[in-house]
Amino acid sequence: MCGIFGYCGQQRAAPIIIEGLKRLEYRGYDSFGIAVADRNITVRKKEGRISQGMPNIPRLKGTTGIGHTRWATHGIPSDGNAHPHLDCHGAIAVVHNGIIQNYASLKRELEERGHTFSSDTDTEVIPHLLEEEFKGDLAAAVAAILPRLEGSYAILAIAEGHREIIAARCRSPLVLGIGDRASLAASDVNPLLEHTERVIFLEDGDIAAMSAEKIRIWHEGTPVERPVSRIDWSVEEVKKGGFPHYMLKEIYEQPEVFSSTIRALKEEEPPEIVNGIRGVTIVACGTSYHAALLFRYLVEAHCGFPARVELASEFKYTSPPKGDLVIGVSQSGETADTLAAIQKASMSGHPTLAVTNVLGSTITRIADDTLFMRAGPEISVAATKSFIAELAVFSHLVDLMSGGVLGKDLPRVHLAISEALLVDLSPAVELCRDAGSMFFVGRGPYFPLALEGALKMKEITYIHAEGYAAGEIKHGPFALLSAETPVVALCPPDDAYPVMFSNIREMKARGTPMIVVGVSGNRDLRDVADVFISLPEGSSLFHILGSTTVMQLLAYRTAVALGRDIDQPRNLAKSVTVE
Ligand code: F6R
Repeated sequence: MCGIFGYCGQQRAAPIIIEGLKRLEYRGYDSFGIAVADRNITVRKKEGRISQGMPNIPRLKGTTGIGHTRWATHGIPSDGNAHPHLDCHGAIAVVHNGIIQNYASLKRELEERGHTFSSDTDTEVIPHLLEEEFKGDLAAAVAAILPRLEGSYAILAIAEGHREIIAARCRSPLVLGIGDRASLAASDVNPLLEHTERVIFLEDGDIAAMSAEKIRIWHEGTPVERPVSRIDWSVEEVKKGGFPHYMLKEIYEQPEVFSSTIRALKEEEPPEIVNGIRGVTIVACGTSYHAALLFRYLVEAHCGFPARVELASEFKYTSPPKGDLVIGVSQSGETADTLAAIQKASMSGHPTLAVTNVLGSTITRIADDTLFMRAGPEISVAATKSFIAELAVFSHLVDLMSGGVLGKDLPRVHLAISEALLVDLSPAVELCRDAGSMFFVGRGPYFPLALEGALKMKEITYIHAEGYAAGEIKHGPFALLSAETPVVALCPPDDAYPVMFSNIREMKARGTPMIVVGVSGNRDLRDVADVFISLPEGSSLFHILGSTTVMQLLAYRTAVALGRDIDQPRNLAKSVTVE
């Protein structure tokens, strides 16, 4: 939800923190701030984006500091609500990612004891609580106040005159980096890669004291050692590499992402947990949920047992069948709803499997086993390559559980993505850019793809777009069809083709501009479509990957035509760590 970054070393902290926050901006970008501890604490904070800059920050002295880029939850985006927050004397500064659920009662108590608040945030209770406990040992003060906080947090705190950062986490991500005579902390590994490949993933309940020389960690008052992991993502991977936007770069990475995910999974021992299962329930949000819906079609077609898919946020109101393997799918591994769903499944005795892109993420710790996608860092807020990587993991799983039904296809199928990257979408973009509203329709596995196409379109172009099962469109949405409502129809040459073709003609008869995605050489589709997007012939999976790429690019190119902020669309954040 928000990004936090801390540096404690030999160099000036401020410029390092600014660069770190820029790499975390995708997690939140409505305001930002930094605090540096020298003899005093100096704070600079501001509404707006860190990439728009703030003069004088880099000149701040001090080699210990913390920073934050915010996605507002409590209190509007403003200079005052931006982090860091201070105690009454400006002697302690705190940045926080997460939500303190009991902040209102804590704030009332603190105000009754004479504390003055200067923001509407939940976070500000933390420095005021610390002020009451701090007697020279900040780690001890943090340990004393944490039991009073309900909710989720990743916290970094500094105190004037101290060359130490105190870090604590509970259900919000926090990674520590071991640098060259420096310690660092960040919400994810991306901004640490400039400084080190050696990282420590804190556990829930851990408190760490970080100085330039060392990192000490305690859990429930006892010193503990946490393993040091090596991250093999390169700095280049987290840069734009000549592309105008991360989203486009990430779409172009997809052929490699699909094939390297399959390659890596094939080299691993298959997860024992899938042996002998009789049913699966998959929980996920957003794009990951759409990938899961598609998985359901593959499982039921090829594996001979049922698959249910639940929105993670709704899972708590449902009960999966006894014995089902519950699979949580999350690119970030930090989505609060998905974590809560996996936790609930574990508590009710279901075996659980995580599918994620991020080593050390929270979901990997709460699930019984994990399958990693190999998407590499995904920076654009709109998920693209992680969807493809999820499809790769699912294809591999289906292959495992079906005795190899997809096997022959898997090493070549990513070529569909490369082909789709070459398609000219200009006529389709012309139809979409002026649309007030759009529909995306498909049948079978193309229904979840239609949902995903609509999600991509709405989140980066701000055009209202809905995904529909093609058969449902005449049960109400027909009333909305008009010359101003383009429809994107996914019409591959499968069993559903004849009825899909009829649906396209019915929509066309209402004057609707039709953008149809089918296979090359199909004269009927070409004749009925206003814009026909043709893909090469291939297997079902081949066509699924090609159609996905076409819809991602259609959303991307339309957003470019409309001049939207593609990598950081309004009101969104990459990782949604609140329920
Ligand atoms: C859409 C998008 C979101 C995420 C969703 C789940 O482009 O990115 O819908 O898919 O927030 O995120 P993860 O997969 O990290 O759990």
